[in-house]
Amino acid sequence: GCGAVTAVRGSLVWFGEDPFPTSGEGALEYVEDGLLVCRDGRITAAGEYSDLVEKLPVGATVVHHRDKLILPGFVDPHVHYVQTRIIGAYGDQLLDWLQNSVYPEEARFASRAYAERFAKLFCEQILRNGTTTALVNCATYPVSVDALFEETHRRGMRVAAGKVLMDRNARPDLLDPSPRQGYEESEALIRKWHGVGRSLYAVTPRFAVACTGEMLRLAGKLWHEHPGTLMQTHLAENTDEVEEVRRLFPDRKDYVDVYEHYGLLGRGAVFAHSVHLEKREWKRLSATGSGVAHCPTSNLFLGSGLFSMRDARHRKRPVHTGLGTDVGGGTSLSLLQTMGEAYKVGQLGHVPMDGTKLFYLATLGGAETMGLEGVIGSLAPGHEADFVVLDPSATQLLAARTAESETVDDLLFALATLGDDRAVAATYVGGRVAHERSPCPDPKPR
Ligand code: GUN
Ligand code: ZN
Repeated sequence: GCGAVTAVRGSLVWFGEDPFPTSGEGALEYVEDGLLVCRDGRITAAGEYSDLVEKLPVGATVVHHRDKLILPGFVDPHVHYVQTRIIGAYGDQLLDWLQNSVYPEEARFASRAYAERFAKLFCEQILRNGTTTALVNCATYPVSVDALFEETHRRGMRVAAGKVLMDRNARPDLLDPSPRQGYEESEALIRKWHGVGRSLYAVTPRFAVACTGEMLRLAGKLWHEHPGTLMQTHLAENTDEVEEVRRLFPDRKDYVDVYEHYGLLGRGAVFAHSVHLEKREWKRLSATGSGVAHCPTSNLFLGSGLFSMRDARHRKRPVHTGLGTDVGGGTSLSLLQTMGEAYKVGQLGHVPMDGTKLFYLATLGGAETMGLEGVIGSLAPGHEADFVVLDPSATQLLAARTAESETVDDLLFALATLGDDRAVAATYVGGRVAHERSPCPDPKPR
């Protein structure tokens, strides 16, 4: 390409590999005074400032993010943009919460104007939280998908999304009139959006409770007919849901077997929650290269249960794992806050995760979960230039906590436990600024 060269200077942090199998140290890449060089939306170099600055072409711009960390943009492998407004709805657990809060709101996304309004708000909010890629559930209506992709495409974001497929157990105005029509509408959206700019389509059967066998069969068929598309659904989030799936699909071994029977396991398939699984199910997810999205703020908010990082990252049968916000079941669009909650859930299972593991899950782990490793989730040359600039002294409390941090891992850990959108100084998409935090109202200590 012949585009302009842009470069950012700061402390570079990324992950060269999965830190779970080892104890982490080798996975962390760190350049204290680094330079990240971008051209045509891609990273062309990442290394020491002093080495790389001399090689910049004349006319290249350099922005210095002094005393800040530059990391790959956060990846949110499970979120519902159509539930932005009902975040934090009081009282119910999953199945009642869907009927009482979620479905009435999603019905409003038949309106293009309503969908456009929330697509815009959603993009602004994820970018201010440092999220550059998301795997997004839309509503049943194709117009709700158009509105999202128009917004993300305009902003040049690497986003995967799909129209939700559902043909039973919900109000009639939200259901696909037939499995065939759901399949055809999804296919039309694939032709319209998949591979347009950085947009990716995700075939999206809601979950086995809301889909007949025929709907799941057609979802599997569609996914296989369009290589490169993703598949997203919900899996074993809540014990009442698991019981209902057993009742609806009595011939299947377990919940994972329902999805496997219809061809829905494999690379690029993302199963949200995965809280109540047996060993056999973890083995099938691992063997097929499927991914799971751990959604701690949602699992706690809806009282769904405690995700087992021990099972997900089992040495002998590891499953690709990322951290999902699951807004509106989740209570924050911040992957920093989601890391903090993932740490606490890990503590309850005696799997404490350090800063390296938490940030891996929110970056490269999310990319691997979506089958996008090598494309996003890293600062290594060749990757797309989506990155986030974090300020370890964004608030008085963070500044006090990190002032004497002696390791990068500890800085990361402090950001995971105390950070939120205030710690996101800037977000870059395709090498360009997509969000910049205005001067912080929280006064800094002298
Ligand atoms: N299971 C089926 N649909 C949903 C949803 O919208 N949110 C969550 N958290 N779980 C689901
Ligand atoms: Zn969800």
